[in-house]
Amino acid sequence: MLRLICLAAACCCLLAQAPAGNPANGKTLFTKYGCFQCHGTQGQGTTAGARLAPKPIALAALIAYVRGPKGQMPPYTGKVVSDAELADIRAYLASIPEPPPAKSIPLLNQ
Ligand code: HEC
Repeated sequence: MLRLICLAAACCCLLAQAPAGNPANGKTLFTKYGCFQCHGTQGQGTTAGARLAPKPIALAALIAYVRGPKGQMPPYTGKVVSDAELADIRAYLASIPEPPPAKSIPLLNQ
């Protein structure tokens, strides 16, 4: 009985956790769904879309924005891009390293 309760508790913990996301798949999806066209291949932002990486916004906020954008961005419903796919996309954006500080680049300090 105790074992069963532990198992149930473990399952609840797993379900409660936000999905970790798969960065490699996220990179593929970021291209497939055209996010890169406005946000840049590294999520660095372009004249057509905001900077998304490094340090993307929280998953819940990202999903909410993609489903109901407030500005120029077209909406993507759950039928087009699932929550799990957005978790992968966020994992890809989170995997992008920060750029080096400008002070560490000699050409920018002449
Ligand atoms: C046609 C251009 C375009 C495409 C395609 C596009 N976006 Fe955007 N996105 C924007 C623009 C422009 C903004 C800035 C706010 C606005 O105007 O909606 C934005 C904002 C966002 C934000 C909010 C950023 C913040 O810090 O608040 C997120 C998250 C986002 N986009 C994710 C995505 C994802 C994920 C995809 C692909 C599924 C995507 N976008 C595809 C143009 C685009």
